[in-house]
Amino acid sequence: MIYKDFISKPYTDQLEEVDFGWQSPSNIALIKYWGKKEIQIPANPSISFTLDKCHTKTRVQVSPKVQLEKEFSFEVLLDGKPKPDFAPKIETFFKRVQPYLSFVDSYHFKIQTTNSFPHSSGIASSASGMSALALCFMSMEKTLVSDMDQEYFYKKASFLARLGSGSACRSTQGPLMVFGKHQEIPQSTNLYGVNYQGEVHDRFKNYQDTVLLVDVGEKKVSSTVGHDLVNGHPFATARFEQAHKNLSALLQILKQGDLEAFTKVVESEALMLHAIMMSSMPYYLLLRPNTLSIIEKVWEYRSETNSNLCFTLDAGANVHLLYPEAEKETVIQFIRNELVVYCKNEQYICDQIGFGAKKL
Ligand code: DP6
Repeated sequence: MIYKDFISKPYTDQLEEVDFGWQSPSNIALIKYWGKKEIQIPANPSISFTLDKCHTKTRVQVSPKVQLEKEFSFEVLLDGKPKPDFAPKIETFFKRVQPYLSFVDSYHFKIQTTNSFPHSSGIASSASGMSALALCFMSMEKTLVSDMDQEYFYKKASFLARLGSGSACRSTQGPLMVFGKHQEIPQSTNLYGVNYQGEVHDRFKNYQDTVLLVDVGEKKVSSTVGHDLVNGHPFATARFEQAHKNLSALLQILKQGDLEAFTKVVESEALMLHAIMMSSMPYYLLLRPNTLSIIEKVWEYRSETNSNLCFTLDAGANVHLLYPEAEKETVIQFIRNELVVYCKNEQYICDQIGFGAKKL
């Protein structure tokens, strides 16, 4: 599908008071999306596990617009309290989706959102949040356009979510989502995330993700700034090629259930992401001493046991520990005994692979 396929047809109906709600999960990339062209056209393909417990619930109450002089009329509440500092991001989102959803300037939108994880946890709420909002808009469009099929609904929801945040387009469905064109994944595209349909070994069923909260609070360098610094980065071309190769390798690994090879690809992707940050100009560092201590402990643990525990990182200091469900008890014990000391206020969140967004 191309851009023009997502342009809305003229709506004949006018809605009165209605509301739409979606719960959308967060996701964790195995092959990282890092580097983009405007607006969130990825420089390389990425693949992620959709999470389950870490999610955003968003309700959008739609009513006739009263303040006609404003281009977009909306209010945003987080946990029931007005959140004016979210407004600029939402305003940008409205602008970006307007060519595809011509109703956004005709109504007032009351957007109420809550996250299952603490806002200050360092877990990005933009992926789950933008995905939930995009899905609410799609439910509204579906009400206005009666003959919309399920496939188009999800493609366009992911397309719109991408306009809010690149990784958000991988939060609509699950358990594995691909964003960005890759030659071995026929449906893959730079415009939206697609649900990975290839063969996946049972060893990855119910895969666990325990998020160790190392640094809570605002990131020093935002993802948007970080992505921009990849443009002109001396290693950029090699990095993009490597992401394509790593994704090819990962597809085989997922099929064969080779957990040792999984660890190698996933950990090297995480470290490469941060290596690119550290060698950007200006250079910066999001890893904290405790992040490194955790990584070393994980390596030590793996060398002393037969464990398949591995780590990945997002654009921050927190560590995602990935492991098979069969190791749940032993790994949690290890975390309690050896890793909580490196977590802020001993906080960690136990999550696992999920199947995507749910309508509320
Ligand atoms: C490191 O999706 O947060 O988590 O598109 O600018 O909103 P924007 O960036 P964002 O970048 C995600 C970066 C990452 C890797 C990934 O999720 O693939």
